[in-house]
Formats: sequence, structure tokens, C-alpha cells
Amino acid sequence: MTRCDPGHKLAGMTTAFVRNQWYVAAYGREIGRELFTRTVCGESILFWRTGNGAVTAMSDRCVHRRFPLSEKPSHLVGDTVVCGYHGFTYGADGVCVAVPGQTRVPRTARLRAYPIVEQDSFVWVFIGDPTLAATTRIPRAPWLDKPGWTVVAGMEPLAARASLLVDNLLDLSHETYLHGGYIGTPEVAETPITTEVDEEAGIVYVSRRMADAACPPFYSNSTGLTGRITRWQDIEYTPPCLYLLHSRIAPVGVLPNDDGSDPDAFHVEVVYAITPETEHSTHDFWAVARDFALDDQEVSDYLEKSNRTVVLQDVAALDTLEQVIATEPDGYQELSINIDTGGLAARRMLARMRAK
Ligand code: FES
Ligand SMILES: [Fe+2]
Repeated sequence: MTRCDPGHKLAGMTTAFVRNQWYVAAYGREIGRELFTRTVCGESILFWRTGNGAVTAMSDRCVHRRFPLSEKPSHLVGDTVVCGYHGFTYGADGVCVAVPGQTRVPRTARLRAYPIVEQDSFVWVFIGDPTLAATTRIPRAPWLDKPGWTVVAGMEPLAARASLLVDNLLDLSHETYLHGGYIGTPEVAETPITTEVDEEAGIVYVSRRMADAACPPFYSNSTGLTGRITRWQDIEYTPPCLYLLHSRIAPVGVLPNDDGSDPDAFHVEVVYAITPETEHSTHDFWAVARDFALDDQEVSDYLEKSNRTVVLQDVAALDTLEQVIATEPDGYQELSINIDTGGLAARRMLARMRAK
């Protein structure tokens, strides 16, 4: 672990994708027996489930004349997909099994197939050299698919580059200003952070622990706590895709026991998957898992609605920034302060991964 000093200089902003990595392409529930398409790192990918329930992923461009296989009248017949333009037919591995007007199927008639793993409610897809997929780590978010936790989740399209969302999530001081009245209170911006980088594991940690803070509506309405709270925000970002915010809320002065048990606190695991769609747009997957009020639908509805509102506040701000960047002259210099150490560490790590 290395302790980070605040940086005062930014690495140049770059928009190229980090390849040879796993990205979240969808929630598992989004993919069934309908043809489903999503663009990840500039690649249009077709997803569907076989009769056995396995998710397949292959290029969404027919090898014949590029017709998108997700586009009607393309359709599934058993475990094959039939192109809606001239009928090229592909198996679950992307290999063409039939073409019109001749019995011989050209040997090169195959769609690019993508390695896929379904885990923690997400469908992960490997972007890059598929031979590297098996040895490349997929970070975990076990709370999304685990007894004892209740989850609300969604995905918002972001018309901004992924690096802007990384910046946003690594610096939560913006909660006080952009999300005042929802999750922001003055203490978030007032409380200093600590930033640590585990180079070997490839993880950036940012911690902000507020000993005595106002309870924002997001937590008072869901936990029932009314007084001042101890509020911990421990971020764990595994570039490029997975961001975790371990959030702990308890009455002031209530700390975990020495043995690590923590029965008097409320725990919320906020998970984001940051998946570039193009160089200037991003799939903003968000999920909120809680270990309290597990069967309370009212709490679920409230958290879903208010978290989506908060995410959309970020989306609006980041969409604006993307427009600002698109129209500014070259050479704009940002100014960074202590709150930016996490974001800067993440940028450095992403730049190194990109250069590999
Ligand atoms: S474009 Fe698909 S069969 Fe012609
Ligand atoms: Fe935010």
C-alpha cells in the first residue's frame, strides 16, 4: 500500500478504452430468449440465452452485409440466430451453420464470440484478446446476489466519457452540493479523506469517516434513525469497471465490536459498474444493497426512487461536462486539491492499464 499525497497536476485526459479486461454488459435479468444488444467499448454485441439458460455473446453484425442480428426480422430458432436480411444462421458459438442458396458454408463465416461470465447478478463480457480472459480477474460484488441483503438497481445512459464518472464517484465531496437534500450534508465536504493505492491488487481505496454528522433523508427515511449519526464511506475501486462504496450508518458513538460484528449499525453496499459504450458515452449501472428492512417494499421503493434521482443528478452534471470538454480549446488546465487524490490515483492506474 502506498499513501497518496494530493496531486497538483493531472495526467492528460484520454478517452481510449482499457482493453483485455472484463466489463459489465448487462444485468442477468435483462437477457432472455429475446435478442438483446449493447455496445461495450465501441463493440456492438448481441446477447441471448440458449435453451439451457446460458448467456451467449457474439458480434451484432452479420458477416454477410453487416445487418445487426439484434434487429428485426432477425430472430432465434432454437439455439441459432437467423439474420433478418438474407438468412445467414449462426450457432450459440457464433459459427455460421447455414447460408441461403448453397450447401457449402464458407469456413470464415463466423461471428466474433466473446467470453462471458454471469456473476453477482451481472453479465460480464471480456473485451480484448479472448485468450487472456481466463487469467484476468473479475472483481466481486457479492451483496447483489446473496441472502441477507435486499437490492434495488438500475442503469442510466450517460452521454459522457467513462473517466468523468470515475472522477465523480471517487470524490464524494460533491454529495454536499450536487445531492444536497438527498445524500449530501455539510459534513461530507468538510471531512478529509484518506486515499490508499494497492498497486499489486489494482485497487484504489478512499475513506471518509464522519464521527458526528447529520443524517441525510436517504438514510433517515430508510433506517428510521432520527438523530446525529456516525457515517462511514469506504470506497474500493477496481479499475476499469467496478466501484464499491461500503457505507456504514449508526447512531453517534456506536462502533463495531472488537470481533468485527456490527449489529447496531446499518450497512449499505453501493455498487457501480462503469462500462464505456463509446469514447463519449457510458453505461452507468448502479445498485444499492442493504442489510436492514429486508422485506420492506416501501423502503425498497424509496431507495430506488431516491437513488435514481441522485444518479440522474450526476448524469446531468457529467453530460454537461462532456459538452464543455467537446467545445473547449486544447490545453485547459484543471486545478486539483486534497479531495481529488482518489480520482487522480484512479486516473494514473487507468492510464497504466491503457498503455499495457
Ligand atoms: S446481412 Fe445477414 S444474411 Fe445478409
Ligand atoms: Fe453523485
